[in-house]
Amino acid sequence: MKELKTSAEVGGMGHSVKRKEDARFIRGKGNYTDDVVLPGMLHMDIVRSPYAYAKIKSINTDKAMAIPGVHAVITGEVLKGYNLHWMPTLMSDTQMVLPTDTVMYQAQEVAAVIADDRYIAADGVEAVEVEYEPMKAVVDPFKAMEKDAPILRTDKEGKTDNHIWHWETGDAEKTEQVFKNADVVVEEKVYLPRIHVCSIETCGCVASFDPAEGKLTVWMTTQAPHAIRTVFALVAGHVGLSEEKIRIISPDIGGGFGGKVPIYPGYVIAVAASVVIGKPVKWVEDRSENLQADSFARDYHMTVEMAASKEGKMEALRIKTIADHGYTDAAANPSKYPAGMFSICTGSYDIKTAFTEMDAYYTNKPPGGVAYRCSFRVTEAVHAIERIVDVLAKKLGRDPAELRLQNFIQPDEFPYKSALGWEYDSGDYPRALKLAMDKIGYEDLRKEQLIKRSKGELMGIGICSFTEIVGAGPSKDFDILGIKMFDSCEVRIHPTGKAIARFGTKSQGQGHETTYAQILAEELGIPYTDIQIEEGDTDTAPYGLGTYASRSTPTAGAAAAKAAHKIREKSKKIAAHLLEVSEEDLEWEVGKFSVKGSPEQSKTIQEIAFAAYTNHPQGLEAGLEATHYYDPPNLTFPFGSYICVVDIDPKTYAIKIRRFIAIDDCGNIINPMIVEGQIHGGLTQGLAPALFEELIYDEDGNILNGSLMDYLVPTAVETPNWETDQTVTPSPHHPLGAKGVAESPTVGAPPAIANAVIDALSHLGVESMGIPITPFKVWQVLKDKGLAA
Ligand code: CDP
Repeated sequence: MKELKTSAEVGGMGHSVKRKEDARFIRGKGNYTDDVVLPGMLHMDIVRSPYAYAKIKSINTDKAMAIPGVHAVITGEVLKGYNLHWMPTLMSDTQMVLPTDTVMYQAQEVAAVIADDRYIAADGVEAVEVEYEPMKAVVDPFKAMEKDAPILRTDKEGKTDNHIWHWETGDAEKTEQVFKNADVVVEEKVYLPRIHVCSIETCGCVASFDPAEGKLTVWMTTQAPHAIRTVFALVAGHVGLSEEKIRIISPDIGGGFGGKVPIYPGYVIAVAASVVIGKPVKWVEDRSENLQADSFARDYHMTVEMAASKEGKMEALRIKTIADHGYTDAAANPSKYPAGMFSICTGSYDIKTAFTEMDAYYTNKPPGGVAYRCSFRVTEAVHAIERIVDVLAKKLGRDPAELRLQNFIQPDEFPYKSALGWEYDSGDYPRALKLAMDKIGYEDLRKEQLIKRSKGELMGIGICSFTEIVGAGPSKDFDILGIKMFDSCEVRIHPTGKAIARFGTKSQGQGHETTYAQILAEELGIPYTDIQIEEGDTDTAPYGLGTYASRSTPTAGAAAAKAAHKIREKSKKIAAHLLEVSEEDLEWEVGKFSVKGSPEQSKTIQEIAFAAYTNHPQGLEAGLEATHYYDPPNLTFPFGSYICVVDIDPKTYAIKIRRFIAIDDCGNIINPMIVEGQIHGGLTQGLAPALFEELIYDEDGNILNGSLMDYLVPTAVETPNWETDQTVTPSPHHPLGAKGVAESPTVGAPPAIANAVIDALSHLGVESMGIPITPFKVWQVLKDKGLAA
C-alpha cells in the first residue's frame, strides 16, 4: 500500500473514510427519479408488443381515450407528425421510438398512455386495441445469416440480408501460418448468453417542458447526462429543443452497470408527451419491462483457437465471433471499434500473433447490447482467453497455474504492446497469481483434489488471471456519436477554505462524492469533509461523457488532480504575495506553502483562499477556481488473479463455491474500503452469469424468463464469502497512479468459476460447458457420458 500523505482528518488517498453519500442513503433520503413530484404531473404507461415480429394492422385508441383521467394516447403515427418516430442509436444505427407498421421484438413499445396517475395509465394500456399479424420471428443469429432468412430491417433501403457489420483486427495470414506449424492446437466454442443488468432501480424519467420559457428539464436515470442532452438537441432541434433549452438532471441512481447509458424509447416518448401536452410527464418502468425490453448484455458466440508449442509456449490466438445485436445495433459502446475493446483478448499473456474477427446480425430480440459492468466486450474477451488457456493446459497435461506463469507478460516488459495493438501501461501478473495461490493454499488443494477424486468426490479449482482495459478514453479512439471521450472537473474554493467541485461523470452508487473529495483533499490539503461534490446536472456540471466502463477514476479522477494543480499554481502566487517572497522560494506540502528553509513562515490553503477574495495581488484575478478537461494519453490496464474452489454434490449436482480468492490490482487506491465494496459487488455480478443468469427465448421470440421469479439474480443466500486482497502497480501515466476497478471482478469471476466447475468434472472426460453452469447442466453432461442416472 502506498504511504499515506495526508492525515486521517484530511482524508486524502488511501484512507478508508466513510462514504459521505451514505448519510442520506441509509436514512432513506436519497433523491431518485421516482421521488421527483411536480405540480400537475401526469403519468405514462406503455403498451408493449406480445409478439416478437408482427405487422401492426391497426391501433384503436378510442376506448383508452374514453377512460376518465386519460389525457392522450401516443402512437407512432402521432410521433410521425413531428418526425420523432425514429431515433439514432449510439452505434449510428436507427431505432423506432414507436412503430407505425411493424414490431420487431417482444415487449417493444407500441403506444403510450398519458393519464392523471399510473393506475389510470395502466387501465388505458389495457384498453388500447392493437391488431397484429404475427410473422415468423428470427431469434438465432445463425438462422439470421442463412440465405433464405427473412430480411428483418426492411426499413433500410437496399438491405438484402441481416448482417450488420464485420470487424477484424490482427494479422490473419501470419496467424494461419503459426497455426499450421504449431505443435498443438486447441479449440473451444464459448457462448456468453444474453444477460441483463437488473439494477435495483429500473429506468425512468420525469420530463417537464415549460412552454413559457421554452425550456425542457428532464430528470432521468442516465449515466451520461451531457451526452443525452446533446443527442436530444440533435434529434429534436427541429421542434425547437436546442441545447441551451435542455437541462438533464441525473439525480441519485440505484445502479446503472451500463444499462442506463442507452436512450430508450420511453424517455423520448415522455419528452414528446410533455412538449405536446405542456405538463410534466413521469415514466417509470416496472421490473418486468426493465428485464424484457431494455438493452441486454453479451450474446456472443465465439470460436476460440490457440496454437502452442509442445513445451506450452502460447504462440497464436484466433477468435471468430458471431454477435447477436437484436433488432438494431443499439450497443452502448464508447469506442470507434464495433466490438469495443474485445481485442484485449490476448489477455495477460505474451502471445505474439493474433487475429480476431466478428460479424454482427439482426434478430427479433430486444436491441443492445450494453457494456454490463465492463468496458465494451471485455468480459467476452476475458472469458475466451481464460477458457482456452485451461483447455490448452488440459491438452498438454499441465497445471493451469503453471502454464499461466510460463506465459505471462513479465513485469519488465511494460509498457507492453499487444499483438492486437493495445499498449498495456503497467502490470505484475506473476505477483498477483502467486499471491492468490499462496493465500488459497493451491498446492494443498491440488493434493486434496487427487484424494477426493479417488473417492469419487467432485472438487474443482479454477483460475482466471485477467487483464482489463478501462478509462475510455484517449479521444483519438473513443467517442459517442462523435463526441470525444474526455472528462472534466471544475473546482471552486470558497473564501473560508471550503470547496465545491463538479464533474462530468455520474455516480450510480460507486461513492464519487467521497472519493473525488479525497482526491482533492490529497492534492490541496482541504479536508474531504469540507469539499462538496456534485455531478449529474447539465446546467451546472462541466461537460463530460459520464460514468460507465470504470472510466471515472481514470478520466474525471485525473481531471480533479489536474484542476487541483491549477488551483495550487494560483495559490502559490497568492502565498508569495502574502509572505512577501518570490514564488521560487516557496515549497508545497499538504495544505500549505512555506518558505524553503524557513517552515514557520507559511500560509495554509485556507488562508490563501481567504486572501484570494480579500487581499489578492494586484494584477491577478480574484477568486480561486479551476476547470480541467482531461483527455487521457492511454487507457489504464487493471488486472487480477482469481482462484475459485468448488465442490459438486454427487447426488444433486448442486455447485457450492467453497472458497474464492480475488487479488486485484487497480494501481494506487483512493479509498480501500470503497474498492473492496466494488469488488464484492462485482464478484456477485460475476457469479450471476457463471451459475444462474441467462435470458431465454423460445423459437418464436417469446421470453421464457421475463420476471425475477424465473431470471435468477443471486441473493445473499447464493453468494459465497469473497476473500479479497490486492497488489499495487501504479499506472505510469495517470496523475495519481490510479486505474479503474469497478468492473474487474465482473469480468474476472465468470471464467474462474466456470474453470473450477469444468475442472471438477474434467477427470470424467468433461472438457467444456457453457455458462450458466446449472446443476441441471451438470447432470445432463454426466448423463450423456453414462455417469448419471
Ligand atoms: O467509473 P466508475 O466509478 O464506475 O469506476 P471506477 O473509476 O473504477 O471507480 C469505482 C469507485 O472506486 C469510485 O468511487 C472510485 O473512486 C473508487 N476507486 C478507488 O478508490 N481507487 C481506485 N484506484 C479506483 C477506483
